[in-house]
Amino acid sequence: MIVPAYAYEGKNVADRHYNVAVVGAGPAGIYASDILSKSSLDVSIDLFERLPAPYGLVRYGVAPDHPRIKAIIDALYNILQKGEIQLHGNVNIGTDVTLAELHEYYDAVILATGADRDADLDIPGIDLPGSYGAADFVSWYDGHPDYPRTWPLQAQEVAVIGMGNVALDVSRILAKHVDDLMVTEIPPNVEAGLRESKVTDVHVFGRRGPAQVKFTPMELRELGHVRDVDIIVDPEDFQYDEGSEAAIASSKMTKQVVEQLTNWVFQEPEDLTASHRIHIHMLQRPVEILGTDRVEGIRMERTELTGEGNVRGTGEFIDYPVQAVYRAVGYASSPLPGAPFDKERHIIPNQGGRVESNGKTVDGLYATGWIKRGPIGLIGSTKSDAQETISHLVEDAKAGILHPTGAGTGADGLFHLLDQRGVRYTTWKGWELLEAYEKALGDKEGRIRIKVVERATMTAISRGEEHDGRIF
Ligand SMILES: Cc1cc2nc3c(=O)[nH]c(=O)nc-3n(C[C@H](O)[C@H](O)[C@H](O)COP(=O)(O)OP(=O)(O)OC[C@H]3O[C@@H](n4cnc5c(N)ncnc54)[C@H](O)[C@@H]3O)c2cc1C
Ligand SMILES: NC(=O)c1ccc[n+]([C@@H]2O[C@H](COP(=O)([O-])OP(=O)(O)OC[C@H]3O[C@@H](n4cnc5c(N)ncnc54)[C@H](OP(=O)(O)O)[C@@H]3O)[C@@H](O)[C@H]2O)c1
Repeated sequence: MIVPAYAYEGKNVADRHYNVAVVGAGPAGIYASDILSKSSLDVSIDLFERLPAPYGLVRYGVAPDHPRIKAIIDALYNILQKGEIQLHGNVNIGTDVTLAELHEYYDAVILATGADRDADLDIPGIDLPGSYGAADFVSWYDGHPDYPRTWPLQAQEVAVIGMGNVALDVSRILAKHVDDLMVTEIPPNVEAGLRESKVTDVHVFGRRGPAQVKFTPMELRELGHVRDVDIIVDPEDFQYDEGSEAAIASSKMTKQVVEQLTNWVFQEPEDLTASHRIHIHMLQRPVEILGTDRVEGIRMERTELTGEGNVRGTGEFIDYPVQAVYRAVGYASSPLPGAPFDKERHIIPNQGGRVESNGKTVDGLYATGWIKRGPIGLIGSTKSDAQETISHLVEDAKAGILHPTGAGTGADGLFHLLDQRGVRYTTWKGWELLEAYEKALGDKEGRIRIKVVERATMTAISRGEEHDGRIF
């Protein structure tokens, strides 16, 4: 809807109509849109997503064997299906449309572009064939359209570096029997890849002690229930300092995690009969990935606690013969062309969601979710995050800061531009078509859905077009 500038004349700024663009249809972008739609502003909201599917890491990060979390998708679906927020998929802001162009059409732009890649780990050998980023592997097994369709799983022994929940997901998927994933939405290419897997032993390494691991208790406990997988923990890896004692005393979650790790130490050897194993090694930091043409091992240095929960190297080195290494040392965000970016922290610099450039607020530009505060926290935390950002946006609108002349005309003008550029954007209705298609695929095999992976196929289904000789 185009609202001409004269419509605002003589009106209180808070009473005028606002057009707001949100970039990224992950949980942060969806929650921000929802909160904004319920605010005191009279507002139209366009939600742009570069993929033909919404939900961000809930669809392309959460592990397929975590359907309980996927239920959050139902909540996000309910927000979008109300029709108050217009979803525009398959539009990459920064390439298909520039951020400057978006500013011309909208009174405010909210960036919710999340995190899409692995944080770096700067050790010798990290670039050897057989050394992978966990985020890349996750994107493969979750059927992200922009990642390769095959994944090499020839290694029998694998190292996973890091003790966060992503390391747990990756270790579990590597160790699990593929038949136990056949109730999930994994696409056929992922099933085929996992069926070829030779993995029997996954070694997970944490550089600090049991009270410093970042696993959450429920996810750690779940590891103990994976069929035909033993969890092995070395008693030598248990060390506590004052910082550890304080952490255990002050956090119920830390206490539960430490208890669970300790329980595994007391397993009877005769109970360890599984064909696959996950070995949890603490107080060891990665020094070098070994090998000439490809990964042949990993060298770790034993560490010791220094008193406050941090560690230092002891000079004792241990080599593990592994044929693949996955670094799960955190995600990182990528810059959005035209937006300020903090290269150290991998976030868009902001104060409570108001984007800043060289220490000054950029009027009408906001950030929320992982791009606002870094790649830490569960889905729920993006909601409180969005609350803060939107409260500042509403404050700014009331202060007359957003396009005070009412120049933001919204989607109509922008879609003319997208059509001119041949961008094959998709809509909410298109997503419902794709979703119905995926569910029908799943139905045939008694599964809730099976994901479509190819972007061209996803787009054709969403747009009801012909593709590969088929009309969708
Ligand atoms: C592997 C993994 C598993 C996880 N599992 C869980 C879990 O089980 N439970 C839980 O509570 N939390 C989990 N989390 C955390 C949760 O996924 C995050 O808290 C949440 O997704 C962050 O939301 P976000 O919207 O900021 O980012 P994202 O989810 O990354 O969404 C960002 C969206 O922006 C889009 N985008 C990016 N750039 C552009 C652009 N230029 N133009 C248009 N669109 C763009 C992306 O395609 C994406 O859809 C997991 C995280 C990871 C990495
Ligand atoms: N099922 C779920 O609920 C689920 C699943 C996946 C992800 N998530 C959430 O998503 C967020 C991101 O998870 P994440 O696992 O990517 O990150 P994370 O929780 O920050 O864990 C990163 C791990 O990598 C280690 N690490 C970092 N740099 C290292 C280095 N140079 N050498 C060795 N180890 C290093 C960290 O150790 P230090 O602590 O010593 O730095 C930590 O153990 C978290 O909030 C997580 O809970 C949730």
